Amino acid sequence: AIDISSLRSQTGMITLDEGYVNTGSCRSAITYIDGDKGILRYRGIPIEQLAERSSFVETSFLLIFGRLPTREEREHLTDLLTESSPLHESMMKHFDAFPTSSHPMAIMSAMINSLSTHERPKIEPGDDQTLLMYAARLMSKVRTIAAASYKSSIGEPIMYPRHDLKYVDNFLHMMFSQPYRLYEASPEVSHALNMFLVLHADHEQNCSTSTVRMVASGEANLYASCSAGVVALWGPKHGGANVEVVQMLQRMRREGLTPRQFLNEVKDRSNNVKLMGFGHRVYKNFDPRAKILREAAERLLNSLKTQDPLLGLAQELADEALRDDYFVERKLYPNVDFYSGIILRAIGIPLNMYTVMFAMGRMPGWIANWKELHDEPTQRIYRPRQLYVGNPLSEWVPRHQR
Ligand code: ACO
Repeated sequence: AIDISSLRSQTGMITLDEGYVNTGSCRSAITYIDGDKGILRYRGIPIEQLAERSSFVETSFLLIFGRLPTREEREHLTDLLTESSPLHESMMKHFDAFPTSSHPMAIMSAMINSLSTHERPKIEPGDDQTLLMYAARLMSKVRTIAAASYKSSIGEPIMYPRHDLKYVDNFLHMMFSQPYRLYEASPEVSHALNMFLVLHADHEQNCSTSTVRMVASGEANLYASCSAGVVALWGPKHGGANVEVVQMLQRMRREGLTPRQFLNEVKDRSNNVKLMGFGHRVYKNFDPRAKILREAAERLLNSLKTQDPLLGLAQELADEALRDDYFVERKLYPNVDFYSGIILRAIGIPLNMYTVMFAMGRMPGWIANWKELHDEPTQRIYRPRQLYVGNPLSEWVPRHQR
């Protein structure tokens, strides 16, 4: 029984909304989602337009500052990203200290946090120039950290960023070049990775973005707040789902499971098997990002003249689920993670880097949310209440009497 008196506070009644299903935590002008109609817009611009036509750098500016950049502003941000890309030499040494078996998400959050040991970003509310500088440093160094964590995990020398390459191509260079053997990304691969990053760039008050805002509300600095976002993204119900989807498809192939057999296993519920990459708290019709990524995966594989049996299997599995009352009744549709792994596989990104790729893409969204909260003069610290269900009163018992 709920003791109703515990729901009263000095400011009135407390609402209990476990999982924050119906609780708005803030006012935001960054990203608009209509979950019933499958609409997603960044600063009012439909995601379909941005995915096809915008660069990740331009989209980042849009999210953070609320409008598309002029040519000068875009070039300025590109310059800032280029000049901020190297890591301090002492930070490079950290990579040797992590065990080779380290998960790249652990390395990434630790390394972002350690950026604060070199400089503590001090940004006054409304100071957009300083914010831009630190945002560029963060986005750029995260890219270097991501690639370096991969290189160190496979025991290859870390590749330094190049000054002549743009954001996406520079990342691919640091991931796949080797000493004396430079990697050159094809335009199709660059385009696909750019689209992947744009589609992951923001998604309003999800678990990781809410975490960034929570940490920021205590006035923690930009780097510390975004490092918390990386950790929140890690789990399989959130950003980690992109790894789980590929592992699920691989398991189906290995065990020779048809989509129908696998879906029956999910519906049986006794082993708690989920259809990974399906379901969303907000989208109850379709996730527009999944629709774009399904087509993009097909296009990329065709242009690379390669085939991936996992794409066909994913499509069959999704189509079969969408004909099944169990999934239809629960409004379960493919989400952003369902097809993204197929694109990352085609590009050659290893499985344990998938969630790191998501974090790289989400960085501008976290920065935009940090800025929005930081610029709000009446911002209060986030401090939800709880419904206490423990002992009302108990006594401390001396040790010898227990
Ligand atoms: N497979 C099977 N059943 C599911 C799935 C799924 N993927 N997702 C939800 N359900 C079922 C639940 O069991 C529940 O059924 P019930 O009412 O009979 O008990 C019903 O659908 C409602 O699901 P909830 O868990 O209440 O939905 P919630 O909004 O809390 O969770 C979430 C959303 C976490 C995304 C969930 O759908 C899930 O775990 N999906 C798989 C993991 C995944 O793909 N995560 C990525 C999400 S996108 C992102 O974060 C980037």
